[in-house]
Amino acid sequence: MENLKETILKSLDGDNIDLLPYIPYLLQDLWEIGSSAEAIIGIIKKHNLYKQDTNSKILDLGCGKGAVSISLAKEFGFTVYGIDAVSDFIEEARNKAKEWNVEKLCEFQIGDIRESVHALREYDIIILGSIGPVLGNIEVTLQKLKKCILPAGNIIIDDAFIPIGSDFNHPDYLSENEFMAQINRSNFQIIDSSFINESNISEYDDSYRHIETRAKELMASYPAKKYLFEEYLKSQRVENEILENRVKCVTLLLKGK
Ligand SMILES: C[S@@+](CC[C@H](N)C(=O)[O-])C[C@H]1O[C@@H](n2cnc3c(N)ncnc32)[C@H](O)[C@@H]1O
Repeated sequence: MENLKETILKSLDGDNIDLLPYIPYLLQDLWEIGSSAEAIIGIIKKHNLYKQDTNSKILDLGCGKGAVSISLAKEFGFTVYGIDAVSDFIEEARNKAKEWNVEKLCEFQIGDIRESVHALREYDIIILGSIGPVLGNIEVTLQKLKKCILPAGNIIIDDAFIPIGSDFNHPDYLSENEFMAQINRSNFQIIDSSFINESNISEYDDSYRHIETRAKELMASYPAKKYLFEEYLKSQRVENEILENRVKCVTLLLKGK
């Protein structure tokens, strides 16, 4: 199994583990650090996935600072359980849940989701918000999640693939054909796909500007580590270019076959 620190960093587009202690500082101005809560709320409303009579149980794997979970608790009264390996993110999620008056509906725990998934059961909806291949490729991920979800439950995945016709290649992204083939081989089927639009893409630039400001502060405080922060800014620019121009970002709604 890949080292946890490497897995965390990779999911946040970094690759030098010396950067890890600085990640909470660099991302302090962002609450949403992956998926758009609005897009996920939209897909839940469109498909009436909220029950009027009982509380749905939501599992948010790699929940970051809880932006998606907390928004779902607030909007639908869902009970949410979020797990993330970065303790500062979990602390911020707990604080935000209090701020939004949904702390009774939200539980956030520090953990490695590659281990936690084995014991989790009976969720109505599982969210995988921009966590990449932490649990394996899409087929392996869906296999692992099968046990965690109720038979009529749904999985919402924010991910990206290389569109048909593109000659772009990247080890972290599957081709559209392979992505779809893996889902077809799994026990799940796609109910809906919502593609990211221009306005979401401009948010990458806003996020980058915040990270850049914090990186410059760190460069001033730790001049010997300037290369580390420059490297991270570069990898953010490269990733944003990929997300904007090379891959298709999609929010998928899946249910069991
Ligand atoms: C791009 S962020 C997305 C966060 C959140 N899902 C969102 O959309 O706002 C990826 C998250 O996955 C978490 N992560 C990566 N590997 C993990 C692991 N093995 N166990 C738990 N969390 C992990 C990272 O700490 C990070 O918060």
